[in-house]
Amino acid sequence: MLAEAKRTTKMEVVIMKEFNLRNCIRISVWLGMFFSVGLGTILLGHDPQSGGGGFAVDDSFGELVPWTHLEANNDPDNFQFVIVGDRTGGMRKGIFDGAVDKINLVQPEFVLSVGDLIPGSRQTDSIDLIDTMWEEFNSMVNRLEMPFFYVSGNHDVYNSLLGEQWTNRFGPSYYSFKYKDVLFITLNSEFINNHQNKWPGKHEDQLEWLKDTVSKEKDVRWTVVLIHEPMWNYKHDPVIPDEYREIHERWLAVERIFERKNLTLFAGHRHHYKKETRNDHAYYTLATTGAGNKLRGIEYGEFDHFLWVTMTDEGPIIANLLLDGVLDPNVVPTIPPYNVIPQDAENKSENR
Ligand SMILES: [Fe+2]
Repeated sequence: MLAEAKRTTKMEVVIMKEFNLRNCIRISVWLGMFFSVGLGTILLGHDPQSGGGGFAVDDSFGELVPWTHLEANNDPDNFQFVIVGDRTGGMRKGIFDGAVDKINLVQPEFVLSVGDLIPGSRQTDSIDLIDTMWEEFNSMVNRLEMPFFYVSGNHDVYNSLLGEQWTNRFGPSYYSFKYKDVLFITLNSEFINNHQNKWPGKHEDQLEWLKDTVSKEKDVRWTVVLIHEPMWNYKHDPVIPDEYREIHERWLAVERIFERKNLTLFAGHRHHYKKETRNDHAYYTLATTGAGNKLRGIEYGEFDHFLWVTMTDEGPIIANLLLDGVLDPNVVPTIPPYNVIPQDAENKSENR
């Protein structure tokens, strides 16, 4: 509008020059002031101009402005997702359900998991019971306002019946997908574990699939791996029985496949938060989102949480959101007295 008004003023000067230069200049200056300041202000108020990053700001402030810059942090290639921790293995009722509400509050584009979603066990032998477990879980994740991606943990596929029921509901227990040129790989850690030879041949099948998937998608800008058991620790971990140590060798075969990738890995199972670095890759083991936890605090890595991940070209930026720290806006105050200034505080104020 301002530019238009200025153009109009110039045109008037040129036309009137032929009649009476002095008068015309006076008239033109007056018209210019009227159109650019008077009429513009009357009709539009302050004329906004587009700032960088989609802002419309008041241009009447001159050089002094009460903001740092106008480059909004809104790279369209970046995106945000949430990863939830274990729900089961000493499940505490209601925690995961509450986490669903909190995830809806922070509005990620999608939600990932690291397994142990239902409380299956070695003894689970009833399809009705398994149905009930999955119905309960699905009733919660179906309340999410964004997609949820299932990852299998030991409790989800503890025995062949649970494994069969997984297949009937969800099809594959390991899979990949791409989102904005980032490759997401979910693995079935129980096939690598293969405890008591429960899943003969499955580790080898998964390994071949993984090699194929990674080689087909070698040009992606980043790879995110989700797996339930953090098997890279099994070789030296004192709480793991000797028979498990061969799992470590199988894990190394998996790990070698994505050795040179831009990659970040997320796991669960231990119910303790931990961040490690292997092959220059960050490996995160989540604590819990409702599973058994002594909850002794951050210094023990014992808390209920989910990860809030922002994916950038340089890799993920990760915020650890404790469930206790994600609050509904209606949460306070609920217990009176509230909005009441204590009597002694009021007196102090009056004395000033
Ligand atoms: Fe587990």
